[in-house]
Amino acid sequence: MGSDGAEGLRAIIASGGVGVAQIARECAVRLHAALRDGHRRWRPGGHAVRVAAAGAGGTGAQPGRVARGAADAVPPVAGIARRAAEDDPSAALQTVLRLLLQTTGHDFAQYKPSTLRRRIERRMALHGTASMADYARLLAASSQEGELLFKELLIGVTAFFRDPPFWQSLAASVLPTLAVQGAARPEPELRAWVVGCSTGEEAYTLAMLLHEAVAAAALPQQLKLQVFATDLSADAVQTARRGLYPEALVQGVSAVRLSRFFVREAGGYRVSKALRDMVLFARHDVIGDPPFMRLDIVSCRNLLIYFKPALQHKLLPLFHYVLRPGGTLLLGNSETVGRFESLFAPLDIRWRMYRRSDTGCPLADGLSAQACRPATLELRGRHRAREPRSRSAAVQSFPNQV
Ligand SMILES: C[S@@+](CC[C@H](N)C(=O)[O-])C[C@H]1O[C@@H](n2cnc3c(N)ncnc32)[C@H](O)[C@@H]1O
Repeated sequence: MGSDGAEGLRAIIASGGVGVAQIARECAVRLHAALRDGHRRWRPGGHAVRVAAAGAGGTGAQPGRVARGAADAVPPVAGIARRAAEDDPSAALQTVLRLLLQTTGHDFAQYKPSTLRRRIERRMALHGTASMADYARLLAASSQEGELLFKELLIGVTAFFRDPPFWQSLAASVLPTLAVQGAARPEPELRAWVVGCSTGEEAYTLAMLLHEAVAAAALPQQLKLQVFATDLSADAVQTARRGLYPEALVQGVSAVRLSRFFVREAGGYRVSKALRDMVLFARHDVIGDPPFMRLDIVSCRNLLIYFKPALQHKLLPLFHYVLRPGGTLLLGNSETVGRFESLFAPLDIRWRMYRRSDTGCPLADGLSAQACRPATLELRGRHRAREPRSRSAAVQSFPNQV
């Protein structure tokens, strides 16, 4: 199976599938290394084989036992449907979210219930639990299951140069102007914030293009480039900081950029030190932690789509507030600024690029940093029950946050 297969399994699981890997006993160790998230014990014929499951959602079996593994992992659909109907689904979902808040300190109440349900059902299928109420009981008894469900709900699908035409358009029509603007400042700099950066591919992609844009502009003075990249998942941030990607994951990077920005190592390609120094990664909750300020770019791609409209309507004005005049907002293909057209003028409608407007802004009119704070703090208050373990230290060390 190797690391390529592991990535394939990770992608299947991230898209809602169930992964069952055929493994020889000697492969289990390699699989374990390749897929670090989540652990399950599989006992074919009484032999315990420790396997790691991608995104905490997969399982493994020795040759000849794969079919039984698949059957066990996916209980009959009719059974699930019947037992689920016996529950009050929304009450059971609320219970699951409350337990998750207690275990992890994160409140998923503002995430779309349809996505939450789909991901919870995947955990239910792996446990053979047919009703969400039963699953809630299992969750109440196991904090480890809480951690695994937390990982399951943070959907980390990403890639270098994901949607290549988006990045081509950004490089051609937005970054050259920003480079000139940044160079004209008394302290020449460009600052970007990648929100929900997952394992770092998007942040490094942006860093490469910023680097290229500044080089192409042949500016008379030095320009400091800084990308802040944040995610709720501590595991994802750790992977991002490491900056080491297996060959299969750098396929979207051209040969020229691979040689310029990466170093070949055992196990894949590592982002060069110069590029890693440009990007500061931290665990950060966009719903509750203080935002970054004085930004030229906010990239929040493929995250708003998981949030309920009410939360989207709080975050979009916040992004407007933290952008400098003329700054750029980047969203994912299925995301828009919705009713906040007065805050953001379209730069590229097809690829969801917007320029911060200086007029018609309900938040910015007469607004100070203090005035912005209540909105942020109000969001913080709701998941105060237990502070996530590793949140504050890394975030507090970031400069220039509100
Ligand atoms: C689908 S990935 C998007 C990755 C990247 N932006 C891209 O478009 O390729 C969504 C990411 O958002 C993160 N996320 C979910 N809730 C979050 C929150 N409240 N604060 C910060 N990040 C969050 C998840 O952990 C996940 O890595």
